[in-house]
Amino acid sequence: MLLPSVPTINALVVGATQGIGLAFTQQLLADDRIRHLFGTYRSEQTAEELRKLASQYPSRLHLIRMDIAHEEQIEKGLVAVKEILQGGSANAPNLHLAINCVGLLHSEQQQPEKALRQLNSENLLTYFQINSVGPALLAKHLLGLFRHAEPSIFATISAKIGSIGDNRIGGWYGYRASKAALNMFLKTAAIEYSRRSPKTIIVMLHPGTTDTRLSKPFQRGVSPEKLFSTERTVTQLLSVLEKVTIKESGEFFSWDGSRLPW
Ligand SMILES: NC(=O)c1ccc[n+]([C@@H]2O[C@H](COP(=O)([O-])OP(=O)(O)OC[C@H]3O[C@@H](n4cnc5c(N)ncnc54)[C@H](OP(=O)(O)O)[C@@H]3O)[C@@H](O)[C@H]2O)c1
Repeated sequence: MLLPSVPTINALVVGATQGIGLAFTQQLLADDRIRHLFGTYRSEQTAEELRKLASQYPSRLHLIRMDIAHEEQIEKGLVAVKEILQGGSANAPNLHLAINCVGLLHSEQQQPEKALRQLNSENLLTYFQINSVGPALLAKHLLGLFRHAEPSIFATISAKIGSIGDNRIGGWYGYRASKAALNMFLKTAAIEYSRRSPKTIIVMLHPGTTDTRLSKPFQRGVSPEKLFSTERTVTQLLSVLEKVTIKESGEFFSWDGSRLPW
């Protein structure tokens, strides 16, 4: 059971519009212990599925606009979360779970680089902005919502490809390096949180290859049993989160609960 000592859980999914984030939103809504669930989106164009869900669960699912490439949107979005949790009273705005599912591998403007000659400063900075800096700023602004007496978890979806020790085939410079930087940012944040919010566990999770927009162009060589549905990935990651302890804060886990090398 997730956070067994917490009777009612308030949770946030960052990047809830599709892929793994949307599946987390769906599975968390099916759990009666989740009281308030916040799902973030960055544009109306991609938020259609999330809007449909919000109309099914009007009192539990709250939509928050947040492009994590803009710190002011992170800050404003989390102020909105706090206000809803306070519900107009002086109640403590306790958040218990935040899962950041935002990530960029390819877009209309950029593709992962196979060779050094394809490196381009602007594209590299975009990878870092979304995959590394955004999550670090989330850790900065979430601290106030996590500083309470109950246990809590801040999980970010990283990627095994960001493991320096596991890098055997090269390629995908910007994505790899930005996920390695993400891991370092959050490992460092976990150390600071252990002093300032000692009941919060911070973890980085590798979801396994999952059938989403992000992996679509690269699924050709993946055998069907190694390509997870988003539902399966979320079930697996939730079971990792059910088992993590405060002593493991700052660690990097794979979907099966094993620890990954930095
Ligand atoms: N799928 C895999 O096989 C796989 C493997 C390893 C790691 N991962 C990691 O898993 C996480 C989830 O990926 P996914 O496969 O679910 O990808 P996805 O289907 O492409 O979803 C990515 C999500 O990130 C959001 N997003 C992108 N840029 C954003 C920004 N600047 N601000 C706010 N939200 C933004 C997207 O919003 P829009 O809908 O508006 O675009 C979408 O909700 C990522 O961190 C990815 O690196 C995935």
